Amino acid sequence: MIIVPGSQSQNLAYEVAKLLNEKYVRVEFKRFPDNEIYVRLLDEINDDKAVIISTQRNQNDAIVESFLLYDALKDEAVEEIILVAPYLAYARQDKKFNPGEAISIRILAKIYSKLFDKVITINPHEEHIKEFFTVPFISLDAVPKLAEYVKDKLDNPIVLGPDQGALRFAKSAAEVLNAEYDYLEKTRITPTEIKIAPKNLDVKDRDVLIVDDIISTGGTVATAAKMMKEQGAKKIIAACVHPVLIGDALNKLYSSGIEEVVGTNTFSSEVSKVSVAEVIANSLK
Ligand code: R5P
Repeated sequence: MIIVPGSQSQNLAYEVAKLLNEKYVRVEFKRFPDNEIYVRLLDEINDDKAVIISTQRNQNDAIVESFLLYDALKDEAVEEIILVAPYLAYARQDKKFNPGEAISIRILAKIYSKLFDKVITINPHEEHIKEFFTVPFISLDAVPKLAEYVKDKLDNPIVLGPDQGALRFAKSAAEVLNAEYDYLEKTRITPTEIKIAPKNLDVKDRDVLIVDDIISTGGTVATAAKMMKEQGAKKIIAACVHPVLIGDALNKLYSSGIEEVVGTNTFSSEVSKVSVAEVIANSLK
């Protein structure tokens, strides 16, 4: 098996290759003057199985890059190609919210299923997207890794999902921390505006861990944190798998009373303190 990086995942791919003791293939990434993407495999390929590790942070570029890497690998007679997209782009448009919309992840899943033999991702927004794939689709959980990271920083915490969808992440973290968990009821008004229904929780003088899959504008987690502070919470840590952190998200989070924000390197950011290399390597073993 060889490990082939996307341009946004070279460190992560190298880490996975080391953990598995497999060959890391060097790739040249370039742009043509008109900005089109160019890839070239720099090492000789003698294996029949390849794993492309390419997070889709810069969505469109990463998607095209994975197609180009596929083409180059097929030319080298690689038979089986697995796509590992730790952050899977377009997964949030997983249904029609309004008439006439494209279901973005459905068409991408169709294309990936034609090319790749398996697709692996980490904590996709909704698990039901699996149905769009006609090849094995594996979704890994990096939340336990986040929980291990914060374990010694929190005293008898309560773990909180800031919305119902995050309940499964709260449960996953609570299992590692041996803690109680709960969730809040969120309504999204616009892509940047949310409302969380009032809910009284037993957080007075207690530490709180807020866990979500994605922190994007920070609105969801900051609103939940403010509510917990108002109810007397002591230390609040926010953890997410994919720290997308658009604009002033971090500022918003710290201003809401959160002491630390931690994310993984599925989406590299200044809070990406936890590596998902082991989670990926274990699934490839
Ligand atoms: C949506 O339900 C996700 O799980 C996150 O809660 C959401 O993406 C967070 O977005 P934002 O940080 O913009 O509130």
